[in-house]
Amino acid sequence: MSEQKRPDPKRLFMETYGCQMNVYDSERMRDVLTPLGYAITEKPDDADLVILNTCHIREKATEKVYSEIGRLRAHKERRAGEGKGMTIAIAGCVAQAEGEEIIRRAPEVDLVVGPQAYHKLPELIARAARKTGERLAADFTAQEKFDALPARAPDGVTAFLSIQEGCDKFCTFCVVPYTRGAEYSRPLADVVAEARALADRGVREITLLGQNVNAYHGGASFSELLAALAQINGIERLRYTTSHPIEMTDELIALHGAEPKLMPYLHLPVQSGSDRILKAMNRKHDGAFYRDIVSRLRAVRPDIALSTDFIVGFPGEKEREFEETMRLVRDVGFASAYSFKYSPRPGTPAAAMLGQVSEAAKAERLAQLQALLADQQRVFNAAQIDRVLPVLVTGNGRNAGQKHGRTPYLQSVHFEDTQVQNGDIVPVRIVAAAQNSLTGARLALAPEAA
Ligand code: SAH
Ligand code: SF4
Ligand code: F3S
Repeated sequence: MSEQKRPDPKRLFMETYGCQMNVYDSERMRDVLTPLGYAITEKPDDADLVILNTCHIREKATEKVYSEIGRLRAHKERRAGEGKGMTIAIAGCVAQAEGEEIIRRAPEVDLVVGPQAYHKLPELIARAARKTGERLAADFTAQEKFDALPARAPDGVTAFLSIQEGCDKFCTFCVVPYTRGAEYSRPLADVVAEARALADRGVREITLLGQNVNAYHGGASFSELLAALAQINGIERLRYTTSHPIEMTDELIALHGAEPKLMPYLHLPVQSGSDRILKAMNRKHDGAFYRDIVSRLRAVRPDIALSTDFIVGFPGEKEREFEETMRLVRDVGFASAYSFKYSPRPGTPAAAMLGQVSEAAKAERLAQLQALLADQQRVFNAAQIDRVLPVLVTGNGRNAGQKHGRTPYLQSVHFEDTQVQNGDIVPVRIVAAAQNSLTGARLALAPEAA
């Protein structure tokens, strides 16, 4: 080893908002910056470089960005007083949608980089340091980015793999088609190569990502891609998110019954139980269509855990239409779900619709819906008590001697053990359940088939 003292590493503070696509992108930005000597710090005032990876989906998410920039300004000024620099970069969907406005409103921001341009970060940081005044980089193609990114350096036994970006569905409430652009699928061979590399680095469970992941068409259908990935040695579990109901093909539904590596959990957003609202949302299907997919999935995989998204208070939503949403929840039974108050987004058709619902009605409906969904989640988790589930060990638990893992249904489980290794899949008897996690006891026996 060389005796030469290495220069102090540069410190990178990253904050990630929004969906799993952003989580994936943040990991890849770190991969791009590691060769430049950047190491992660948890403290923003320690950072030479700060990246906010932003989300534009609802108004609150966007507002957070501006308040966070305000906080960073103070750190930046303090560091300047100590003769140290701090580069502030805004990435993600707000960068894409409002890049020019950020530049105008926030002079302390040094660079703005869209979701298809972050492979250019080294060049952009160097340019910012030269203070060239050019601060915007939003226009690249997804393929150009994926080709330029370095190898993955996963730090666990589960990993996200982005296979599809953008969206052409244009739901009337949603900004994603504007922030992430047109639908694009990565070629099958590239996805398989990335999955193999992940398996070689110890990854056992891959979650395929895309805004409309099951609309994948990278030279093979989505089902063909899943089948190809299931062939890879070392990859024991496959998941995908987020899927659109109209892309749930017969082939894909059948695969849920036929491919044991495909986990019995599906996030399938429905948004509303009212046909009139679904139509106004441009979701391209009605409630019966959704219920039919659910019953066909349950026919091939009776234990499948279903998750979904809801929006309450979409423009024009009447009390009785909200009741139809409640009815759909009672009829289907969800293992987990996300629900939101409708948030008007600039430039989307729904923002200009008549019949905007009052904040009070939205809050009231959300509370009712979330109470029902929380009950269903508790019921689903409690139903696992006394079952023996195959648990993928993902890390250490909260206390010494405790391990943490994941059930096939994406539940988090804690159990006492000192022998198992991360990446092992071990039988665990579930002994207690709360709304968000399970407690288990490891068994020496083989798990029941799940
Ligand atoms: N591509 C995914 C969803 C991405 S956004 C899909 O098609 O399902 C994640 C969730 O945010 C959506 O499912 C929706 O429930 C919610 N959402 C999107 N736009 C919203 C808005 N304007 N107001 C409130 N919630 C919204
Ligand atoms: Fe948004 Fe609809 Fe596309 Fe999902 S399918 S990203 S909700 S436009
Ligand atoms: Fe948000 Fe962009 Fe994801 S708007 S939800 S971070 S695609």
